[in-house]
Amino acid sequence: MVFNLRRVPTVSLVLALCLSLVACDASGNSQAASMSDNDIAIISRQSASFRLAEDRLPELAELVANRNWVFTRNLIHGPLQEVGREMLYINQHLLPEDRDQASKIAEGLKSALSELDEAAKLQDGDRLTRAYGKVVDGFVNYSKVIPVQ
Ligand SMILES: *[C@@H]1O[C@H](CO)[C@@H](O)[C@H](O)[C@H]1NC(C)=O
Repeated sequence: MVFNLRRVPTVSLVLALCLSLVACDASGNSQAASMSDNDIAIISRQSASFRLAEDRLPELAELVANRNWVFTRNLIHGPLQEVGREMLYINQHLLPEDRDQASKIAEGLKSALSELDEAAKLQDGDRLTRAYGKVVDGFVNYSKVIPVQ
């Protein structure tokens, strides 16, 4: 009888151990959905380029304010041209559950840039100013998508 009573805690301990091992295994599985070193390296490289493009915004603002149609378009098709591709690469290396939302936000910036280009092409000043505002919002929006390391 005494022997049996002493066994109870042992059984409980073994049971608790098993349960915690199962719990450990379960959290180990959820870690499989984390970013690899390769994902992180690609995201940090592409986001550095994205930041360089974002740094050109004050220059773009000045061109927009001066209604400089030609140089506005040059900036869009030059230094800002790769922004769409950079966001695409970043999106592809985010956690799968974050990709759809990230793509939608990236589309917002891409369409703002095409709108700005179109307004410059049509030499429509009001539209140019509005589109510039959207471009700024688009950069702000997408900046929140980039994971902080
Ligand atoms: C930025 O995000 C806001 C809030 O979600 C949204 O209303 C707006 O359309 C976005 N702007 C662009 C240019 O994507």
